[in-house]
Amino acid sequence: MILEGLVTTLARDGAMNVAPMGPEVEDDDTALGRFRLRPFKATTTYRNLMDHPEGVLHVTDDALLLARAAIGAVDASGLSVRAASAVRGAVLASCCRYHEFRIVGNEGEDRGGLRAVLVGETVASGRFRDFFGFNRAKHAVVEAAILATRVGIVPIGEIRDELKRLSVPVDKTGGAAERAALELLKGHVERAAVGLERGLRTEGASS
Ligand SMILES: Cc1cc2nc3c(=O)[nH]c(=O)nc-3n(C[C@H](O)[C@H](O)[C@H](O)COP(=O)(O)O)c2cc1C
Repeated sequence: MILEGLVTTLARDGAMNVAPMGPEVEDDDTALGRFRLRPFKATTTYRNLMDHPEGVLHVTDDALLLARAAIGAVDASGLSVRAASAVRGAVLASCCRYHEFRIVGNEGEDRGGLRAVLVGETVASGRFRDFFGFNRAKHAVVEAAILATRVGIVPIGEIRDELKRLSVPVDKTGGAAERAALELLKGHVERAAVGLERGLRTEGASS
């Protein structure tokens, strides 16, 4: 199974990075003893883990934070964070539970070498609060956040159509945070689309 979580890693200078990541876990294994993390090599998460193979995987229902992290719009100074106990890492206090991990294996790569397959092992874990539960709007935001990270890979028309479809459960079943998350993602997609179109025009003019 894939667990959509938030991974924090630290850069060499100690700066915290927060990114949604979907590790492969054993079916319904909430202890997350071992899992496969598959970061694209272009991500900061991958670079940080190559520098220092430790981080923290968070289980959360905070759709707004997940959306912000997906598009690199997290203001770390506004987050409640504490030092991890067993690894060099940072724990987000707003999560439901967290797993401090160490990378203990490298299983190579997939997606034509673009993505690494790293084995993570939980060395300490903790819990802050209950998980909210199933909510269509929260899940729709997760889907929308994945789409927002695929501008330039998935055709823009397809992304717009899908975001329109996802706005139905968000409007019907979400709270203020889920609605804000979807608006944020829509804005990001439109800005990225403009950037792409400009890039294509410049490329066209110079060829
Ligand atoms: C729910 C969700 C799951 C994701 N899972 C992964 C993943 O497993 N591997 C990956 O490289 N990117 C994944 N992404 C995309 C990254 O979060 C995105 O590229 C992000 O900008 C990477 O951040 P970073 O460069 O700060 O590490 C996921 C995004 C979402 C919304």
